[in-house]
Amino acid sequence: MTPLLEFREVTKEYHGVPAVQDVSLSITEGEVHALLGENGAGKSTLTKMAAGVVPITRGKILLAGEELSFSSPADALRKGIAMVFQETSLVPSLTVAQNLYLGDEKAFNRLRPLYIAAQQFLQSLNFPVDPTANVASLGAAQRQMVEIARAVRKNARIIIFDEPTATLTPEEKQHFFELIERLKERGCSVIFISHALEEALAISDRITILRDGKLVITDETGKFDRDSIISAMVGRDLSGELYGGEDGKRRVRPYGKRVLSVQNVSMGRMVRNTSFAAYAGQVTGIFGLIGSGRTETAKIVSGVIKRNFFHGGVTRLGSKSVRYRTPAPSVRDGIAYVTEDRKVEGIFETMSVAESIEIGKLASPSDKSVILRGSEARDLAEHWTKSLNIRAISSDVPVIELSGGNQQKVVIAKALVQDPQLIIFDEPTRGVDVGAIAEIHAVINRLADQGLAVVMISSYLPEILNMSDRILVARKGRIVEEFSGDEATEENIMYAAVH
Ligand SMILES: Nc1ncnc2c1ncn2[C@@H]1O[C@H](COP(=O)(O)OP(=O)(O)OP(=O)(O)O)[C@@H](O)[C@H]1O
Ligand SMILES: [Mg+2]
Repeated sequence: MTPLLEFREVTKEYHGVPAVQDVSLSITEGEVHALLGENGAGKSTLTKMAAGVVPITRGKILLAGEELSFSSPADALRKGIAMVFQETSLVPSLTVAQNLYLGDEKAFNRLRPLYIAAQQFLQSLNFPVDPTANVASLGAAQRQMVEIARAVRKNARIIIFDEPTATLTPEEKQHFFELIERLKERGCSVIFISHALEEALAISDRITILRDGKLVITDETGKFDRDSIISAMVGRDLSGELYGGEDGKRRVRPYGKRVLSVQNVSMGRMVRNTSFAAYAGQVTGIFGLIGSGRTETAKIVSGVIKRNFFHGGVTRLGSKSVRYRTPAPSVRDGIAYVTEDRKVEGIFETMSVAESIEIGKLASPSDKSVILRGSEARDLAEHWTKSLNIRAISSDVPVIELSGGNQQKVVIAKALVQDPQLIIFDEPTRGVDVGAIAEIHAVINRLADQGLAVVMISSYLPEILNMSDRILVARKGRIVEEFSGDEATEENIMYAAVH
């Protein structure tokens, strides 16, 4: 049987360095194929070649036995290959419906039927998105849904999902997995890239693991388990270093002085009269489902959200009452916010790794004035790329050339050089591989041990349970519960988050 999609000794080089090397892989009709590997292993690059996003350096890609050559992603889509990107590719100024029907310019002539059709289509997928909303106004999860819906609508024969579930709630994930089942029944093949190994194990028929651009193994999913996947990914046994590797007991650090106190802060419908505190020398975990107002609260504290939208309440840093309109003064006061949405708030993609880190340094309270000499900037970048294990050919490359997870580490480095007293991590390990998660967690622990007040927002329960000294639960715009010690169980936390 001819495979639907076949990679034959495919290589992709950037600046002469292979990102994907001699990969041969076949995708059969109607299969769900999980593509796994560490940050920078080459997953996005491999699939981008099949989707016409980047050209191949050497080798061939065949669709139903015929060699492909594309001029663009639109061209690939016409041939039946769609890709849902890790970073969104929607047009923010258009509505949901217009994005769905982009390319069908005829459909734009009359808006009403366009909206009705879009509404019905989104409903059929179980996606709660308003077709008339501007994409710019949507949250990450809903954007992802629009992106998925667009690929499905184009009747693609192969859909590549690059980390589709990272921004979805458990319920939305369930719908998404059902959708994949339906696509499969229609004979559509799915390539599923994810760092959520349990999900890959649950929904795929076969698994391929890449390491350093090379294919390590392809086999039926039933032949793998979590540990065997991880050791194939990293080339060594990591299980002791990850979640559950310890004795399951959380250590609780003592309270230091109160660094942050938020009292009755409100903002529109997103944040309702919320109050909490964070202490020096502790990790304060904030758990909640997407939409529970955690991110908005963090953005108010750190001045990322403009004060115009800020309706009330008091925020204190130490004993000083603060109200920031922009991030700059909050950074000067020693607050660092590490965003989950690096594309929008974290980083300028065209800047190099070194420049991005230097920007953080310039913003810090201690180094207001001096611009670093070239060599100093390079030393600084060198230090942080090493200590966070950021994988880049050199620190002069633009951030956009790094893999998704390594971009996230640059965002963290930029915050750390600001030398903060309070650091807020918003989903610090989203899109980050298992090895790098362990590294980032070690960094977070070190910061708390050094006496910083650390706030960690996460939707990932094992992360919250393992890392936090105290756990706050957010629901519908408020902190509703606080747990520590023996009370901090999975059941208690989940119950508080949804009820
Ligand atoms: N446009 C680019 N220019 C130069 N190098 C690039 C570019 N895009 C990717 N690379 C490099 O290719 C390698 C593979 O990156 P890729 O994005 O495919 O990794 P990935 O497996 O998708 O990782 P992640 O899980 O972090 O998303 C990395 O070393 C990355 O730095
Ligand atoms: Mg990627």
